[in-house]
Amino acid sequence: MSTPERAAAAARRMLSAKAEKFTESVIREMTRLAMKHGAVNLAQGFPDFAAPAEVKEAARQAISDDINQYAITWGARPLRDAIAEKFERTQGVRVDPEREITVCCGSTEAMMSSMMGIINPGDEVVVFEPFYENYGPDAILSGATPRFVKLRPPDWTFDETELARAFGRNTKAIILNTPNNPTGKVFSREELEYIRDLCVAWNAFCITDEIYEHILYDGAKHISMARLEGMRDRTITVNGMSKTYSVTGWRVGWAIAPPEATSAIRKVHDFLTVGAAAPLQESGALALRLPQSYYDKLASDYRGRRDRMLAILESAGFDVFKPRGAYYIMTDVSRFGYPNDVSFSKYLVEKIGVAVVPGSSFYNDPRDGARQVRFTFCKTEKTLAAAEERLSRLCA
Ligand SMILES: Cc1ncc(COP(=O)(O)O)c(C=O)c1O
Repeated sequence: MSTPERAAAAARRMLSAKAEKFTESVIREMTRLAMKHGAVNLAQGFPDFAAPAEVKEAARQAISDDINQYAITWGARPLRDAIAEKFERTQGVRVDPEREITVCCGSTEAMMSSMMGIINPGDEVVVFEPFYENYGPDAILSGATPRFVKLRPPDWTFDETELARAFGRNTKAIILNTPNNPTGKVFSREELEYIRDLCVAWNAFCITDEIYEHILYDGAKHISMARLEGMRDRTITVNGMSKTYSVTGWRVGWAIAPPEATSAIRKVHDFLTVGAAAPLQESGALALRLPQSYYDKLASDYRGRRDRMLAILESAGFDVFKPRGAYYIMTDVSRFGYPNDVSFSKYLVEKIGVAVVPGSSFYNDPRDGARQVRFTFCKTEKTLAAAEERLSRLCA
């Protein structure tokens, strides 16, 4: 070992072995690369259009009204009331805002606090892959061993036997994400029931990330796992304001869970972050009560963007997997003849001027995503048109 290598190894021994086990977020790294190369950022899923005026006004008003100190650690009551009301209105599930809701700093923290609240050494969590990249580090940091189960293109279905085999004595939970990032899959009632039966048989939780619940296409329906018979008391529903109200920078999310799990989640949450921004929680209480027309328009605007992006990608030579929900398109890039997804993504950002996410970042084994890259389309027409112009220079 050379002297610098020895020094680096010594420095690493001073650090957490857990933190050594995962890399920085590839998605967030792609945003930094997009800025460096002046590329159109179709990597990270944040809208580049305005958030709803009334939601922004409510936040301004809350600051003027001096709602500027810590909210109750598990969330301001008006927001918890609005979360409970909305869950009942949209999914028919009644929850107690006093004992079953924890407001967190984004659904990211809600997922982490939930995992840390329920995981013990030796516990396993079942994770569908491709998966939203946070779930890998979430498992490592909470101490869970992930058991991966493939969603297979083009429809991203899973093999029931493979899923059943992933459950066992040590299974503490399955992580579900519907509508799904990165595939756009919306789990059907039959699929959810199959998962439900396994959770019941093995006495496992389902932690379900439903952050794209309102972004649905072609008649797809979102069904919350908590709604299924037998799941009300073993489901932790993670959700947030980021995607539904186009406020990803606000960092307001929540976990809905049965009372015992909620008290564990609340303790972890309190010592991790104390609480989400108080004035933004106040605005959340208004946002969650927006009329149905708001959600209808959100979905129809996204359908327009999805169709536009599908057309752009197809005419640039990509093989696309049409999403039924969320705002991403997974593509197969084999035709372009690059050795793998990372080299192709590098070429796209540096030479073509479009940032995407390499498919490997959604898989445990990078080889499984070596032919895929993910585009997001939560962007203005101006951004999509700029991407179209740049992608037209590609030769498949
Ligand atoms: C599936 C999924 N869950 C959670 C998040 C992050 O949500 P939040 O901004 O509420 O932390 C994202 C963001 O892209 C996501 O795609």
